[in-house]
Amino acid sequence: MDESELARGLEGVTVAETRLSDIDGEAGDLVVGGFPVADLATNATYEEALFLLYNDRLPTAAELDAFRADLADRRSVADEVRDVLRMAAEAGDPPMDALRAGVAAANLDTGEANPEGTARRAVAVLPTIAAAYWRYRQGTAPVEPDGGLRHAANYLYMLTGEEPDEASVRGLETYLNTVIDHGLNASTFAARVVISTESDIVSAVTAAVGALKGPLHGGAPGPVLDMLQEVHDSGDPESYVRTKLDAGERLMGFGHRVYRVRDPRAAVLSGAAERFYDAGGDAAFFETVTAFEEVATDLLAEYKPGRSLETNVEFYTAALLHGVGIPRDLFTPTFAVARVGGWTAHCLEQLQDNRLIRPRARYVGDRDRTWRPLADR
Ligand code: ACO
Repeated sequence: MDESELARGLEGVTVAETRLSDIDGEAGDLVVGGFPVADLATNATYEEALFLLYNDRLPTAAELDAFRADLADRRSVADEVRDVLRMAAEAGDPPMDALRAGVAAANLDTGEANPEGTARRAVAVLPTIAAAYWRYRQGTAPVEPDGGLRHAANYLYMLTGEEPDEASVRGLETYLNTVIDHGLNASTFAARVVISTESDIVSAVTAAVGALKGPLHGGAPGPVLDMLQEVHDSGDPESYVRTKLDAGERLMGFGHRVYRVRDPRAAVLSGAAERFYDAGGDAAFFETVTAFEEVATDLLAEYKPGRSLETNVEFYTAALLHGVGIPRDLFTPTFAVARVGGWTAHCLEQLQDNRLIRPRARYVGDRDRTWRPLADR
């Protein structure tokens, strides 16, 4: 019999050492690759943030050029992968199901023998898969990746077929960097479990996409946008919030399991959203967003005294991604486009000092049943 303490959901259990990111939920600090998240997210290109996670240092200009070119070379998918995405779009399959199928199918044409190359391939190909699915769903043909554009710009380009403006690229890039890694969250843990069996990185990423799909992990920003749009139309945030809280419902985009203060990623993304909307976005919509945050924070304090219910990452994710032109239904796939950097970096880290991840379960079933043949049951 197992006498060890039961850690439901592995809460509070430390199962790996990592150099990738660290969360202090009490202080509201997040360090990614040794930098406060605000510094990394606002200064780095996605390629720089990824290089940092893979190499534990920033690249030189020459290294960054080579790294960028290598990623750009790995963006295209084979016709067979496109067929899978077209069929998923035509069948009306949800975006995360299409992404998971697309990633798994991309396994067929990686041609990669080493984990580092497969990791870069997985990062490079996720935007292509998400965008191709979206284009098929709109009844249009996918747009070929443009090797001359950086990662974030190329994703926007593949969605619309038009070269994006710099404000949108910086907005998206800041988002991708902000959420590139976040400790041992469920999808990252799923990836580490798979790679710990010495499986392969595409399999690990496929499992991680499956974990991210769940509403307890990656599903909140879409409903946040619905809420913001409803409040923007009504122009009355206070009665919206009171109606929800009086009905005992939760406000999407507020509260967090780990952070007891404002999620540091919310601060980074609110700054990025402000810069984006100031540069020519829908200013009236952004006014609704900031007014809603203020009203909701005050009312949450009134309704739940003693609780710290502050804005979480999903609130400004919705405002920013909507602004830069990511369709609502691609919010969670876009989260995957960012987090695949963390997933693959964790896989490479796990492989450096691997030990099969194999926790135990406490058996609570019967032990002394007597077998009865089928005919007697
Ligand atoms: N709106 C209203 N009340 C809330 C909210 C909220 N968003 N969040 C927590 N509360 C209330 C609960 O009703 C509870 O009240 P009670 O004690 O009167 O019953 C109290 O605060 C504590 O609730 P817990 O569930 O214990 O809080 P926890 O910190 O574990 O929950 C969670 C975290 C699940 C994120 C929660 O805040 C929530 O459901 N938020 C809305 C959904 C959301 O924004 N999810 C995205 C999170 S960010 C991410 O995961 C990447």
